[in-house]
Order: sequence, then structure tokens, then C-alpha cells
Amino acid sequence: MKSVILRSPAKLNLSLKVLRKRADGYHDLKTIFERINLCDEIMFKPTADGAVRIRCSHPHVPCGPKNLIFRTARLLQEKFRVKAGVEVFLNKRIPVAAGLAGGSSNAATAFKGLNMIWKLKMPLAEMVDLAKEVGSDVPFFLHDCSWALGLSRGDEIHRLDLKTTLWHVLVVPRLKMYSSEVFANLNLQLTKPGDDVNILIRYLKNKNIIRVGRLLSNDLESSILELRSSLRCIRERLLIYKEVEGVSFSGSGPAIFGITQNQQQAEKLQALLSKRYSQVYAVRTL
Ligand code: C5P
Repeated sequence: MKSVILRSPAKLNLSLKVLRKRADGYHDLKTIFERINLCDEIMFKPTADGAVRIRCSHPHVPCGPKNLIFRTARLLQEKFRVKAGVEVFLNKRIPVAAGLAGGSSNAATAFKGLNMIWKLKMPLAEMVDLAKEVGSDVPFFLHDCSWALGLSRGDEIHRLDLKTTLWHVLVVPRLKMYSSEVFANLNLQLTKPGDDVNILIRYLKNKNIIRVGRLLSNDLESSILELRSSLRCIRERLLIYKEVEGVSFSGSGPAIFGITQNQQQAEKLQALLSKRYSQVYAVRTL
């Protein structure tokens, strides 16, 4: 088999409800995942030796055991006693440690790519089971769907059959936040008791963008803002624009997005906000 090149998309969370802390230290969630068209590209090339070699276009991405592609490759080599190795080239476009799950998406893409080049014949259900060991966000990306409801650690995926395409302006401040610190700093008593997730899904289905915008919510927001108070003014700035129907952080931040009615508005805001911030994107559902 020759090499394969696969796309590895980012995600946003339109709603992220933290239900409770679990005995294993993780949290039970109820979240809506949206796949977006901000993508890395990954090339996988099989080699005869057992080595896993990763190169990346971005100088700060770790290419050893901390890299989730590396961890996935080692996991599969062990599980299936694979003698072959792999050369990987990761073309990184998704900002790192931003709440966009770029690393988890890369891991899911590695499951797919290595399944092909090492001819493992793994069915989806088996990949999903193994993927949970690599990270809570990995299963979503294995499902190849635009929308999903994530339960349990966020790793129990229920596909949402929605035809809706949304446009967003996405601002990614140049500071890293790690999920572990944001969850550790969360005060569950301060999170809203109600749960609007099912209503939000109904508005998404009806393409009612105004109502979707109003129901965006993320229980991690207070923890994110407490840890990085400078993010408050980006949030406020986004809310100034009349084209923005709602604003929310994605995952554990610091990526923050506004929903717009269409592509034109998202691109207009991207141009405006790019004057002030360095990483601004107009993105849509993929
Ligand atoms: O699963 P993942 O490696 O992405 O999780 C990173 C960290 O985020 C965990 O170690 C945990 O601290 C926190 N987390 C959590 N509950 C979840 C998902 C992540 O507490 N459902």
C-alpha cells in the first residue's frame, strides 16, 4: 500500500453541560458537537521497520509519545502485533490546545489512516472502543458526522441527523488552555441547573439561527474566564456586532466563536476582527 492523505477537522461545542464529577476523576457531560471546516491534513506512509516517525509543519507540536497520533500508532501496533511502522506528516492548521480538539481529531484520523495502510480491518465500533483510551473527544471524529450529541465523558456519541449548516466567526487567542486545568478549576455549584440541549437541537433542526444563538452555553465558561480574565474583553467585543447571534467558548477554550446568519457576515467580521486579533477564521459546519 502506498501512502494516504486524510483530512482532520476541528470541532466546536454549541452547548456543553457538565452534569457531575465521576469517581474516575472525569466529568459526565451532555454536549453538542459540530464538525467545522478548519482542518489539518495528515499523510500516512507505511514502512518496513516498526518505527513511528512523525514530522509536523508546526514547530511546537510534540512529535513523540505526547502526540496523540504517536499514541494511537503504538496502541494499534501492540493490539494487532503490527510489525510495520509508519511515517507521518502532519500539516497543522488547527490551533493547538484551543478547545478545538485538533489533537483528538488527529488521533481519530490516525485510527482511519493506520487501519487502511496496515490493513487492520477494524470495524467502526472497535475503533471507537479503543479511541476512548486515547481521549474523550476522539470518538466523535470517528463517526464522520457533522453533528452529534456527546454523553458520558463526551465519548458516547449519538449522531444527530441535521441538515443544518451554520457559519461562525472564530477567534483563537494565542494562549493555551488545558482541559485538565479548566475542569479542575470548575465550581459545579455555580453551573446552571437547567438543561436546554434538547431545545437547542430542535432549533438547529428548524435552522432557527437566532434562537440557536441565544441558547449557546458552556458550563466551563466561568472557569475559563477565572483562569484567563483577558478573554472577557474578546467575548464582549464579539457581542457588540449586530451580525453575531450568540457567543460561546468551544470546549475548555480559549477558542471563542460567534454565530452569524451567513457566510458573508462571518467573512466581514473575520476581516474586521483580524485587525485586532491574530487568529481569526470564518468557518462553517462540515
Ligand atoms: O480525555 P481527555 O484526555 O481529552 O481529557 C483531558 C482532561 O480533561 C482529563 O484528564 C480531565 O481532567 C478532563 N476531562 C474531564 N471530564 C471529561 C473530559 C475531560 O474532567 N468528560
